[in-house]
Amino acid sequence: MTTVYLNGQLLPLEAANISVMDRGFLFGDGIYEVIPVFGGRCFRLDEHLDRLDYSLRETRIPQPHTRAQWLDIFSGLIDALQREQAAPDQMIYLQITRGPAPLREHRFPADMKPTVFAFSKALPPPNQQLPPAIACITCEDIRWSRCDIKSISLLANVLMTQDAMDAGGREAILIRDDQVLEGASSNVFIVLDGVLHTAPKDHRILAGITRDLIVDLCAEHGEKIRQQTVAAADLQRASEIWITSSTREMLPVTMLNGAPVGNGEIGPVFARLWQWYLGFRQRMNSPVA
Ligand code: PDD
Repeated sequence: MTTVYLNGQLLPLEAANISVMDRGFLFGDGIYEVIPVFGGRCFRLDEHLDRLDYSLRETRIPQPHTRAQWLDIFSGLIDALQREQAAPDQMIYLQITRGPAPLREHRFPADMKPTVFAFSKALPPPNQQLPPAIACITCEDIRWSRCDIKSISLLANVLMTQDAMDAGGREAILIRDDQVLEGASSNVFIVLDGVLHTAPKDHRILAGITRDLIVDLCAEHGEKIRQQTVAAADLQRASEIWITSSTREMLPVTMLNGAPVGNGEIGPVFARLWQWYLGFRQRMNSPVA
């Protein structure tokens, strides 16, 4: 990735500079989005832009662009990367902070000029076959209580992810008040007593775009899903656990805290949903092509 977008311009990465007084740098005062691009097309673009609007509204940062302007920015980044690396599968990252201020004061600056930064990076070709299984750990959720905002303040997520890596896993599954909520950077699905469960959308989790797609696919195909949390103690008798995110798509978890999940194999509910998800990915269309 050598071309990035910063405050109205596409420019080389080396030329993209921001002030050290930027509130994103000083306070983590900003929000972000991650939008996958498969075969040159943005995945669930409207849903990502709706969630961007939500994060901005909840943090009282003004929306800097119209949707048409966002589409232009994304097209510029996708095309630039396509020219540089011939990369049809990409991941757009965009971040908006409350911008620079003359003094480091917690209160909002009088004159807010949000900093808008975005880039696209190449993704490996997405899985066409069943994805590889992963191991995870559980850990106490040490985040704040507005996890519905896609905030760039990710220190807790960083620490919990590193704990998972140090234990030989790929994701930390987060427990709060003895309930399973989501992953450090993913949503979690659990098959318990034959029924698929995922946490409800509230302040305790990020409303994942892939999560919502799974819920829609269940409705479309008549698969029962309960949007309610599972008790941490019940994880031991879950027959399947999987995680979802825009960039990791769907990944089955076959080892949890060093013990097999169910029979230790990828389960039938995952396999069904994977086929429906794949069908969606293959059919998808978006205005940015
Ligand atoms: N993370 N929950 C959390 C805490 C997340 O950070 C993410 C995504 C998700 C899944 O959301 P989606 O399906 O919209 O990607 C759930 C992104 C990918 C990241 O931080 O890089």
